[in-house]
Amino acid sequence: MSALRTILSRSALPSTRRLAAPSPAASQLVRNFLKPSSPVLKAEDEEKARLEYEKHRQNVDPKMASVDESLTFEHPKTSEWKAGDPGHDVVGAGHGRHNKRTLSSLSMDGKVCVVTGAARGLGNMMARTFVESGASSIAIVDLNEADARAAAKDLEEWFVTHGEAEPGEIKAKGYGCDVANEQSVTKTFDAIEKDYGSKIDCLVTAAGIVENFIATEYPTEKVRKLLDINVMGSWFCALQAKKRMPEGGSIILIGSMSGNIVNAPQPQTPYNFSKAAVRHMASSLAVEWAKDNIRVNCVAPGYTLTNLTKVILDANPVLRDEWLHRIPMGRLADPSDLKGAIVLLASDSSKYITGSQITIDGGYTCL
Ligand SMILES: NC(=O)c1ccc[n+]([C@@H]2O[C@H](COP(=O)([O-])OP(=O)(O)OC[C@H]3O[C@@H](n4cnc5c(N)ncnc54)[C@H](O)[C@@H]3O)[C@@H](O)[C@H]2O)c1
Repeated sequence: MSALRTILSRSALPSTRRLAAPSPAASQLVRNFLKPSSPVLKAEDEEKARLEYEKHRQNVDPKMASVDESLTFEHPKTSEWKAGDPGHDVVGAGHGRHNKRTLSSLSMDGKVCVVTGAARGLGNMMARTFVESGASSIAIVDLNEADARAAAKDLEEWFVTHGEAEPGEIKAKGYGCDVANEQSVTKTFDAIEKDYGSKIDCLVTAAGIVENFIATEYPTEKVRKLLDINVMGSWFCALQAKKRMPEGGSIILIGSMSGNIVNAPQPQTPYNFSKAAVRHMASSLAVEWAKDNIRVNCVAPGYTLTNLTKVILDANPVLRDEWLHRIPMGRLADPSDLKGAIVLLASDSSKYITGSQITIDGGYTCL
């Protein structure tokens, strides 16, 4: 792995530099530009005006819009994740029953929900959100079976311990599945069908990885793996879920703002184009499956504080400020900031929304 540099300290940002004196052609252009509105301009005024204009003719190495090649980062192995995942912040304030009038179509009561990548992070938060919103049947799918089962047990226990559910009321089950592997996905959905019956109401595909290498040093097998997980994983799961949505359902593919914009300064071209593919997969499937009453939408988070981002920021604290200064809301998202959009798209509240993307990025992509 010698060619791949792990995160280094931030290199000094390149300095601003002035352009060399403008070419005669450029001065001519300025003169021509000024002439129509300044028919009586004297030569010295014209030169003064040109110089005024020239002060803005600068060329910089753009701090906010270029890749820093030292920011390379490989996704750690699942076994290397630390405990204390910030993705579990869903158990804090703002959680719990709400007994006032609420739009009933937002309820997930009675729905069978499948969430991939749900052993931790955003997927785990989404699985919990469905339970908070009334669902009792939750399939937690993740790479490692033991992690998926532990997350399911943890979820059930938490709601019972906090008085949010009776013992035995929530049926959460964990499934080990490599979403990049079609056979593994088929086997998992067969197992889900055995446990929950042949009808799935909602699928969320949150399993995904990110890596940061510059394009010229990104090993092809790693690019393929990333695409297999982020793109083909979403594809295989969507197809399996569709088979089990005889009367319709909701599929939410987790994309990223990176599917719409290019993040900087860390290089991550394959991740970006994988998420662009996910976004367009959602709208394309939405068109194909609209007749089956299956809605397919994409949720595109911005920088959200989960293990995925935390490990990058832990290794490179300067990067956090680089990110923050590009976010109009001035902070990273908490996983819980995604709850509303997920319930909206999963529930009957959004029964006429399909092929859409909801971007949750604190305004990042407005700039
Ligand atoms: N955190 C962010 O800032 C952010 C921003 C935009 C989009 N996203 C997307 O949200 C999704 C979830 O991200 P997260 O931050 O919760 O990441 P995370 O790393 O905390 O969780 C991802 C989960 O996916 C699982 N997974 C990875 N490969 C898998 C495979 N082959 N099969 C099955 N499961 C697999 C992991 O084990 C993990 O539990 C990803 O698709 C990510 O690209 C995250």
